[in-house]
Amino acid sequence: MSISKVISSLALSAFFLSASSIPAFAGVAEGKKAFEAKKCVQCHQIEGPAREKTIKDQLAKKGPELWYAGSKFKKDFLEKWLVDPKIIRPLEYNSITKKNTGNHPKLSPAEAIEVAAYLMSLKSTDVKDGVVEPRDNPKGRAIFIKKQACYGCHEVIVRGNKAGGLSGPALTGASKRLNPDWIYAYMVRPKIFKPVKDMPDYTGYINDAEMKDLSAYVGSLD
Ligand code: HEC
Ligand code: HEC
Repeated sequence: MSISKVISSLALSAFFLSASSIPAFAGVAEGKKAFEAKKCVQCHQIEGPAREKTIKDQLAKKGPELWYAGSKFKKDFLEKWLVDPKIIRPLEYNSITKKNTGNHPKLSPAEAIEVAAYLMSLKSTDVKDGVVEPRDNPKGRAIFIKKQACYGCHEVIVRGNKAGGLSGPALTGASKRLNPDWIYAYMVRPKIFKPVKDMPDYTGYINDAEMKDLSAYVGSLD
């Protein structure tokens, strides 16, 4: 093969390589720029690990951490929510008394696609893929509603009606919003994701099989 042929075949394979890698990275750099330009960084932590060590650190945070957003959320949810943000936590972030009035900044659909691509690139190595298959199962439901008091802090739909407590994020629509493998990782090692003001730590109280049933149940909620 002549030198020029080698060079052109190399150039061609480089072209195919970059062309085939476009879908995975599309929008990430643009999304990062938009995230900075829209000042999302003022309220959201985008670099792990979790920084807060004390209640004071937690109270200083203005919004939930997003450094593991790509492991926690579903992309479709982010693309829709960033355009039309609906209340997730019934109470204001970091408050146990004030109602969340839901005035989250909004993005245009085009910006939301790029920002969602960027957020989906922020992964946690503590979340393993393919561990939990979402499914409504009696064991998970029994733990959630009866055996443990999950229901006392989280809103869910029971027989067609909204029910449950308000102090934690609503879990109605969790099947569209949350990656079930993240739910499991969070249940098993909560301190990695929310070190301070998290919910009760269930490690040691709920065994691994039950954690999986519970995560599958929460991951299936409408
Ligand atoms: C003034 C502070 C503030 C700014 C600025 C802000 N957010 Fe938020 N964000 C919040 C709060 C508070 C919540 C929790 C809302 C809820 O639970 O209903 C939130 C929730 C979110 C969530 C869901 C996180 C979760 O764990 O439930 C995402 C994703 C998000 N914001 C992205 C963004 C993006 C992108 C921007 C920039 C366009 C942005 N935020 C700007 C305060 C802010
Ligand atoms: C005492 C109240 C309380 C109880 C009981 C409780 N939680 Fe929570 N839960 C919380 C709070 C508070 C958060 C995190 C709040 C935040 O991120 O702003 C949370 C977060 C979560 C999240 C992540 C939601 C998200 O969008 O970030 C899941 C999933 C969850 N809890 C499931 C459960 C399950 C399953 C149980 C029962 C085994 C349970 N919770 C029991 C208060 C509670």
